[in-house]
Amino acid sequence: DAAEKGGFEHYMTKEIFEQPETIRNTTRGRLDAERGTSILSGLNLSPRELVDIQRLLIVGCGTSMNAGLIGEYAIEDFAGIPAEVEQAAEFRYRNPIVGSRDLVLAISQSGETADTLAAVREAVEKGSLVAGLVNVVGSTIARETGRGIYLHAGPEISVASTKAFTSQVSVLLMIALKLARGRRLSQARGIEIVQEIKRIPELIEWVLETNDKIAEVAQHYTNYQNMFYIGRGYMYPVAMEGALKIKEISYIHAEGYNAAELKHGPIALLDENMPVIALANKGAGQDKTLSNVEECKARSAPVLGVVTAGDKESADIFDHVIEIPDCPQYTSVIPAAVALQLFSYHVARLRGCSIDQPRNLAKSVTVE
Ligand code: G6P
Repeated sequence: DAAEKGGFEHYMTKEIFEQPETIRNTTRGRLDAERGTSILSGLNLSPRELVDIQRLLIVGCGTSMNAGLIGEYAIEDFAGIPAEVEQAAEFRYRNPIVGSRDLVLAISQSGETADTLAAVREAVEKGSLVAGLVNVVGSTIARETGRGIYLHAGPEISVASTKAFTSQVSVLLMIALKLARGRRLSQARGIEIVQEIKRIPELIEWVLETNDKIAEVAQHYTNYQNMFYIGRGYMYPVAMEGALKIKEISYIHAEGYNAAELKHGPIALLDENMPVIALANKGAGQDKTLSNVEECKARSAPVLGVVTAGDKESADIFDHVIEIPDCPQYTSVIPAAVALQLFSYHVARLRGCSIDQPRNLAKSVTVE
């Protein structure tokens, strides 16, 4: 058992620490640094089909859906194609409007989640293009979509998903790049994006090296019953995923919120017992998020910031900070998510929770 965990106490930590390697596996052979694009043969779309795509619909559940939200931002940002994320369970019962010029991306670590599978069947039935972003080779979703991109993250044992999430995000960035290069994105910009995607393993290594510091910060957040996670733009889905991770393994109630929405209700809950964890690294919306943090402080909420290394001015606003390396916002989602995975892990460990097998949860939900 200890050998299977590679010397770590839990599968979750093993999987968190594997991420530089799993991202290398996910991206291997899929990035063309010269042409500034990605090679995703599994998508199996003709040049005509690629250009004709008018909309992307991304479906998934839980962590996989949160990854999809980051994909939505990247696809619209890079390629200028409208993209939408829908909870797989909603999609299937809504009689969705999809057709042959829509590409449905079904995201699933296991490839067996009942709601995601049902969404795939619905989309296939309606004649849309459907591709799977799946980790488990040969799983039902991988088979039924017939086209797709395997994550190559290796077996994920911990119920709380970590390495599958960062691989999903990496694949979505590569899809966004590919769609963009067939449309409005220049080769020079494409080359830049390839370089940034190639840096992801290093960005993760940087965060993993701060593990002890994150463990220290976590000590201050073990005795709360509730937390808010806030972010804007690309960092909003990271807030959602951070909140999901802490709920799953530490049983602290947490909500991921858009920082701007906080004042439309949730701010009423803030006091010294409600910490706010803010994704406040450099990038679009940072100044606005920081002013939301000031509003939280004015209500006595303890504030923890995920900030860019060296950004002292922002760090000074917070009670505690976790740093991530400087990089564009579309890749910063990954080091930020990894930092919050470690934070959740340490909070749960200090609370004496069962890390790999949280109560009431299953690794794969094959019922509706
Ligand atoms: C369960 C797991 C989650 C996972 C979700 C979707 O709820 O506990 O960690 O994100 O299912 O699973 P999938 O295999 O489709 O990604």
